[in-house]
Amino acid sequence: MTRKILVTSALPYANGAIHLGHLIEHIQTDIWVRFQNLRGHECYYVCADDTHGTPIMLRAQNEGISPEDLIARVHDEHLRDFTGFHVHYDSYHSTHSEENREFSALVYRKLRDAGLIERKTIEQYYDESQQLFLPDRFIKGQCPRCGAADQYGDNCEVCGATYSPTDLINPVSALSGTKPVRRHSEHYFFRLGECGDFLREWTRAGHLQREASNKLDEWFTAGLQNWDISRDAPYFGFEIPDAPGKYFYVWLDAPIGYMASFQHLARQKGLNFDDWWQADSDTELYHFIGKDILYFHALFWPAMLHFSGHRTPDNIFVHGFLTVNGAKMSKSRGTFITASSYLDSGLNPEYLRYYFASKLNGSMEDIDLNLDDFVARVNSDLVGKFVNIASRTAGFIQQRFDGKLSASLPDTPLLSDMQQAADSIADAYQQLDYGRAIRDIMHLTDRANQYVNDHKPWEIAKQAEKDAELHEICSVSLNLFRLLTLYLKPVLPQLAIDAEQFLSIAPLRWQDAQTLLSEHHILPYRHLMARVDSKLVANMLAANVTQSTATSTTNTTTTPIDATSKAISPKATAPTTMTNDTTTATTTATTTATTTATTISIDDFSKIDLRIARIVNAEHVEGAEKLLRLSLDIGEGNPRQVFAGIKSAYDPASLIGRLTVMVANLTPRKMKFGLSEGMVLAASGDAPGLFLLSPDNGAQPGMRVK
Ligand code: MSP
Ligand code: ZN
Repeated sequence: MTRKILVTSALPYANGAIHLGHLIEHIQTDIWVRFQNLRGHECYYVCADDTHGTPIMLRAQNEGISPEDLIARVHDEHLRDFTGFHVHYDSYHSTHSEENREFSALVYRKLRDAGLIERKTIEQYYDESQQLFLPDRFIKGQCPRCGAADQYGDNCEVCGATYSPTDLINPVSALSGTKPVRRHSEHYFFRLGECGDFLREWTRAGHLQREASNKLDEWFTAGLQNWDISRDAPYFGFEIPDAPGKYFYVWLDAPIGYMASFQHLARQKGLNFDDWWQADSDTELYHFIGKDILYFHALFWPAMLHFSGHRTPDNIFVHGFLTVNGAKMSKSRGTFITASSYLDSGLNPEYLRYYFASKLNGSMEDIDLNLDDFVARVNSDLVGKFVNIASRTAGFIQQRFDGKLSASLPDTPLLSDMQQAADSIADAYQQLDYGRAIRDIMHLTDRANQYVNDHKPWEIAKQAEKDAELHEICSVSLNLFRLLTLYLKPVLPQLAIDAEQFLSIAPLRWQDAQTLLSEHHILPYRHLMARVDSKLVANMLAANVTQSTATSTTNTTTTPIDATSKAISPKATAPTTMTNDTTTATTTATTTATTTATTISIDDFSKIDLRIARIVNAEHVEGAEKLLRLSLDIGEGNPRQVFAGIKSAYDPASLIGRLTVMVANLTPRKMKFGLSEGMVLAASGDAPGLFLLSPDNGAQPGMRVK
């Protein structure tokens, strides 16, 4: 039976670049969707950018553009990045869309009419200088439990305490540095506390992985808190229909963005929206998300759907976090890898799809990208084993048999084993255990190579009387190759297209595992995949390195020195914080990982040649959005040229003559605009602004900073 399946990935925030953490989710989803379609199901994949909230509003302000312009630009960047990795959406929409405005209002009205919305006056911190209520993440102060300085308003990264911002000792606004005042305001709440019975039942009905439902049980035990769904103006979002000056909190309209994006698709394709979203829909709905946003998807979202008269998801597939070389992605180590830096480095996107697939198993465990292992595994499996089968045998078919496969194939157990494996490999894909699918496929690939080794076509080819045998051996090998291509097709869609072209066959579908190719013309073999060049990996890391200040052990005052990342990689967009919830901070029960501080030895630190530099010239760079060209005198005669991504913060004329700090021993980097011979240091953080460092009075150009 043809199933009708709708699949989503979480909507990336529109205030940062796509990085490998996002990609693991979208690649995981894309593989599953491609698999469903290969099986002949009607499966759609929708996503969108998550565009609302205070951080996006502030970023736009900071860049001097409207939020609409910002999100339009980022939408293009995001879609380009994902597409570069062969992630295919049927619709990649925006939460700032008419469809989403309508559905948000609709869901809200239904919840209100069901008695599930209440109003309550609450007290919050307000920044008088900015005239803004401060989200938790924009307030810093001393932890009320352990006294650590410089902690965010929602939790302490030193002792792990969670609290509300009004508990902080000596709070300051991270936006302005001023002391915030308490102010009252009326907020709208979704009465999640009333949804407990429904949610408990839904959770137990087998919609979740075991780890996820355990997590939910913890939350049930802790008690369900009503959820604050409104924010006061100014806020970039949708105004609440019956509450002028109040806006939907970004997390209210974000999941509704799944509906909006589907509606956008439905209009184009002539699908009936209600068939897919009404309460008794017989279609299937799945959400792929990371573990940090489970609370929103497994509690708020099903409750919102159910009590607004809609269907609920069939499952929520939760994955763990990506680490690189065993550690949390880090800007200073260059392992906070953006999608665009990967693509720009010239690495084939299918390498990464394959590597991620081999590591994904459908659990919530974290997934490590070990870069040495990545190079070794791709080279060994894909180039050394898989592609090799075709390259070893196709030549004989061309030269000796006019490009045509034999009419009959010998009865080898390997061929029938390979065909029969279709079911269990399908099962692995279906269960999201891509790791097992890849292991099974590679096991078969080893057997296919063994078959070629055992039959030695290159020797048989020397004996004219064994022509028929040679023909059959090579034809079997290419049939094995065809089946392996099919099994890898969800993971390697482009390679599959190239292989289909070489084999001169129609696009493979899962059921084609039941047939074999005989008496069939193929095209001459062209090399299907090159080895991974580890120099490209090194270049990619270099393009992501930014320097962080090595002062604080708590890691919260160490603002990522983002200007430098832009100086190296002009395409990288502005800073993304590593924690994923700059806008989410109202639930205390999310599972966001705590930040672990990176330590380096004094020897590591002393490798960096930091110098006082005088900016002797600063100018705009023709064609560069974010860069200024600086000439820096560090007392060595000729000034150094450095491209710095600080255009948004400084008028070049104002910089000329001032002192700053530069990294003088950075490997020079050739950029589109010329050679960059070092970098300058600037601070940035969650709050807008970029701040070039300068020494105290008396420092001279050329002095070492240590
Ligand atoms: N905008 C919200 C989601 C709204 S969905 C209605 C959001 N955006 S996000 O950009 O911060 O994250 C998007 C997705 O990427 C989330 O599922 C998140 O878990 C995932 N990841 C972000 N960083 C990640 C890693 N380092 N590793 C794996 N996935 C991570 O949350
Ligand atoms: Zn603490």
